[in-house]
Amino acid sequence: MTTLLRALHADITTLAVDAIVNAANSSLLGGGGVDGAIHHAAGRDLLRECQGLGGCETGDAKLTKGYQLQAGCIIHAVGPVWHGGDRGEPELLASCYRRAIEIAAANALRTLAFPSISTGIYGYPIEQAAELAVATVQATTGTLGGIEEVIFCCFSSGDLQIYEQLLAALYADPTGVISPR
Ligand code: AR6
Repeated sequence: MTTLLRALHADITTLAVDAIVNAANSSLLGGGGVDGAIHHAAGRDLLRECQGLGGCETGDAKLTKGYQLQAGCIIHAVGPVWHGGDRGEPELLASCYRRAIEIAAANALRTLAFPSISTGIYGYPIEQAAELAVATVQATTGTLGGIEEVIFCCFSSGDLQIYEQLLAALYADPTGVISPR
């Protein structure tokens, strides 16, 4: 089974998928941006569960329930802060996407939505991040199997345009493989 990859312009807290991914920080105790929106929409029980997780390393991810969200679960991934690109940022960002998909597959979660991790408060350039996200999701879902659909949930029309171009190129390429920069 191949995984369907698609982009959507939406608030990720409204999506009825098996799991949404959060762009968290290493405390896992909430913050601004999409993290704040997810904690707000899920309710205080999410914070209580997160308090018991002991934080999370950059590049890794941890699973919680979805509480008041439409989504059944939340996978909290911690992306890197952008420092110019030579401090391991691409490897850490790819690792976030990979770990989130591994956790989804291990828990029989078949539909997933990602925000554009690290490209808000953490400052990762959107074009580079989106290219890495699409390539990593495609490679990881292809290897693991079991994931039916991955949505790249864009919070702006500019981000949506970037993801749509990448996905159009991906699906136009008969090898189905694109390479990150
Ligand atoms: N739905 C979908 N995407 C959203 C939403 C939403 N409701 N809200 C924001 N975005 P950011 P980061 C987009 O800053 O860069 C937090 O304080 C946003 O437009 O949320 O990984 C954490 O606690 C951008 O495209 O995450 C960390 O401390 C993308 O989500 C830090 O921010 C990611 O932006 C993480 O920074």
